[in-house]
Amino acid sequence: MKNWSRRQFGAIAGAAAQVRSAAGQTATEILDVYPGAWRVRFGRPEPLTPVSTRKYRPAETALRAAGTLKVPFPLDSITGMRTKRGMAVTIPLEPNELIYGLGLQFRSFMQRGLKKKLRVNADPEVDSGDSHAPVPFYVTTRGYGVLIDTARYATVYLGNKPKKGTARRSSEGATQSATSANALPAAYGRFRVGEPSEVIVEAPIADGIDVYVFAGPAMRDAVARYNLFSGGGVMPPRWGLGFWYRCFGQFDQKQVLATGTELRASRIPCDVLGLEPGWQTHAYSCSYVWSDKFPNPSGMLKQLRGSNYRVNLWEHAFVHPTSPIHKPLMPLSGDYEVWDGLVPDFLLPEARRVFAEFHEKEHIAIGADGYKLDECDNSDYTRNWSFPELSQFPSGADGEQMHSLFGLRYQDAIQSAFERRNQRTYGLVRSAQALAAPYPYVLYSDLYNHREFIRGVVNSGFSGLLWCPEVRDAKNAEDLLRRLQTVVFSPLAMVNAWYIQNPPWKQVDRESNNKGQFDPDWAKLEAQCRELIAWRMKLLPYFHAAFAKYRETGLPPFRALVMDWPGEAAVWTNDDQYMAGDSLMVAPVVAGQHEREVYLPSGTAWFDFWTNEKHEGGRKIRVAPPVERIPVFVRGNTLLPLAEGGLHANDGASWRVVVRAYGDAPAAANLVEQDEETLDPALTRVELTWAAGAAQGSVKRTGPAQRRRYDVIGWERVGSPQ
Ligand code: GAL
Repeated sequence: MKNWSRRQFGAIAGAAAQVRSAAGQTATEILDVYPGAWRVRFGRPEPLTPVSTRKYRPAETALRAAGTLKVPFPLDSITGMRTKRGMAVTIPLEPNELIYGLGLQFRSFMQRGLKKKLRVNADPEVDSGDSHAPVPFYVTTRGYGVLIDTARYATVYLGNKPKKGTARRSSEGATQSATSANALPAAYGRFRVGEPSEVIVEAPIADGIDVYVFAGPAMRDAVARYNLFSGGGVMPPRWGLGFWYRCFGQFDQKQVLATGTELRASRIPCDVLGLEPGWQTHAYSCSYVWSDKFPNPSGMLKQLRGSNYRVNLWEHAFVHPTSPIHKPLMPLSGDYEVWDGLVPDFLLPEARRVFAEFHEKEHIAIGADGYKLDECDNSDYTRNWSFPELSQFPSGADGEQMHSLFGLRYQDAIQSAFERRNQRTYGLVRSAQALAAPYPYVLYSDLYNHREFIRGVVNSGFSGLLWCPEVRDAKNAEDLLRRLQTVVFSPLAMVNAWYIQNPPWKQVDRESNNKGQFDPDWAKLEAQCRELIAWRMKLLPYFHAAFAKYRETGLPPFRALVMDWPGEAAVWTNDDQYMAGDSLMVAPVVAGQHEREVYLPSGTAWFDFWTNEKHEGGRKIRVAPPVERIPVFVRGNTLLPLAEGGLHANDGASWRVVVRAYGDAPAAANLVEQDEETLDPALTRVELTWAAGAAQGSVKRTGPAQRRRYDVIGWERVGSPQ
């Protein structure tokens, strides 16, 4: 701590320093919360914020392991101002400092120069900041992150210029950005990235606000530290990383069982079957009660588990009058209805308890493995079905705060049911906000632009989010394959057939699909899809290990290239390539795009995943992938474990692994085993190494697991003279 000056922050961990800011501005209190994490407080923050209502505690041990870290810029250069409009905070920006994050943003990547209103919303079709999961957290190429702890719809101005002579504290002395505006594409000229500027955050209504600053030193360290502060990344059950198929919304019990049988018969790998609205007696709003179409839910769930399927149930949080929990939730809900249903106040422990207990008893105890938590965002772009901002909740929240926090507190309610049963889950949710990293929930949307879905994978990694670029119907076979390729290399690989009765490979067109008119060539398309989905199974051990790293270090398993190569101009605006784990770089292709440019970052060689062709890093190449291949490149000196395959995560073939060794000096890699049935966090590691000059690699197993799961059955050398 010796290189920290008293003027910059409280020198003793946990101690606060009072700093008076420039005239007219609120006093600040600067608190050193963890190594490399500081809180700057202005005025009196609101009682309901993402941090104050959090379920998960920070991952203390991992945070403290960072030791001493330098403050990234003088914290008293952040200013706060109370105005009639609420609270405003300004954070200085250095010339050439590039900004990323702000949650699940579909329509922009590098954020400097833009204005974003962080409003929770379904299906935003403009680049306004509205999002299923807007997150008031950003990182910059100067290697730090900033979290504005608010449940208000904050507006973030990322580079407006105050009038000359307006007093502002400078952030001089801060680390310089490695970037230079000159190297940005010309279109960025209007953002005046090369000039000093500031980020302004305006939070309506609030009298005070907390700003958290996370040190790097590199941008990806700042993201990881933020994720550790959130509680660490999620570690899903292995089955969650297999393939998912959501059945047609109106299917009954027999049809769901038949879907399971058909997928196995056609040898399409599948771990999770999803049930859409039709399983409930009433779905808009929800009863959470099995409908007559499912006369024996527990028998069905048992039978499916017997065939190694997990079952995920669709629902949303609005409680129909016929639901048995309607009455107990009446006093624990807001003053407006949605689809005639109650809006539970999930900020109240009692509301969460009532909701969770019913779910536990009626679904989880009889074998349901998870949920898709729908409709928990808002409806400014979708015809105003949700509750108004002026709503009032017994916890004291208004509708605006509730919208911001609803997705996460809804997940809290459901999580408590799984935690009581000591059971792992992995599911879907349509809204999240700050501190989401520890949640086993992946975001999705009713939007369907493939290019934006790819940007979703790239952007979500800056903000502790996971995103599923789900596949539904398609324009043609090529579109289906291209979409499926992206989903195979994403946090949750799913076909969501909720509005098509037959698998999309039988007929991509929605209308014809529902008439049962199959494409004459469907068997060929099915075979192509089968092969792609099989790759997901082969990569399952690798992805699972990437998530273990997420949990322990906070490093997101899916992330933009700029996170790993912030100094390379070619990746500052690259929003259509991403890292999947530490060794694979994915460059998806959308239908109609017959070739594309791929940037191969420097400092390493890259091997084509499909052909093993070797490329030097630090340059662009053009690729023209055949329709059944997504461009994927393996970083040089990698040990890449690939499973034999298998139809599900419990299949022996998904545990038998061949390790591909790329380059002359492959770095060690891990496989991880965990107790899949309970929440026991202990990991058994299977360490893979390849000593220089050795004829093959070696395997070392460490950890508590009694039963050996992974079996390394072979080694393959790629790109080496031997
Ligand atoms: C939507 C959801 C879809 C599907 C549908 C069923 O809100 O995004 O994926 O579940 O509801 O009604």
